[in-house]
Amino acid sequence: MLIERSLTPADLDLICRHRKEMFRASGRPDRSEQTLNTMTTSFLAWLEPRLAGGSYFGFVIEEDFIPIAGIGLMIIDWPPHPSHPTQDKRGYILNVFVEATYRNRGVGTRLIALAETELKKRGVSFAVLHATAMGQRLYNALGWKATAEMAKSL
Ligand SMILES: CC(C)(COP(=O)(O)OP(=O)(O)OC[C@H]1O[C@@H](n2cnc3c(N)ncnc32)[C@H](O)[C@@H]1OP(=O)(O)O)[C@@H](O)C(=O)NCCC(=O)NCCS
Repeated sequence: MLIERSLTPADLDLICRHRKEMFRASGRPDRSEQTLNTMTTSFLAWLEPRLAGGSYFGFVIEEDFIPIAGIGLMIIDWPPHPSHPTQDKRGYILNVFVEATYRNRGVGTRLIALAETELKKRGVSFAVLHATAMGQRLYNALGWKATAEMAKSL
């Protein structure tokens, strides 16, 4: 049976692994092992205080106490916007990862449902995420829409 629980500070290495594997599966051109290792070292240092302090939160799904999936959440400072005209914050979903052998069984859907419920519980009315190609169908099916965001390395 698959059981969900909240992330704890003890999940530091697990979240780092999920993030790295998510990018490895993403199809991005800039996902060399060297880049991912460098990112993971920096990410761990960034994550540790935020996970301990609760500004990074989320869920793990386990089978027999072994994590098989996870999702990260943040509430980010954002100016009021037509999508959230009275709120100066947005929910942000990241590091969504399901172990390959557990995919296509509804685990990703369950993670997103947990995330949406938790963000609503914390008073957030609008949330964003960046989707990998693999994630897009899932998010579309759950009512998420593409936005006009553009990006450039400076
Ligand atoms: C993207 C990802 C999180 C999806 O997780 P998942 O657990 O496979 O998601 P779900 O099972 O809920 O949904 C996937 C598909 O399975 C279908 N599905 C859901 N429950 C099902 C069930 N019980 N039986 C069969 N199929 C099912 C869904 O309808 C969906 O179908 P679709 O692709 O045709 O829309 C997962 O593939 C993953 O971790 N990929 C690598 C990392 C990544 O890209 N993460 C996303 C970052 S944005």
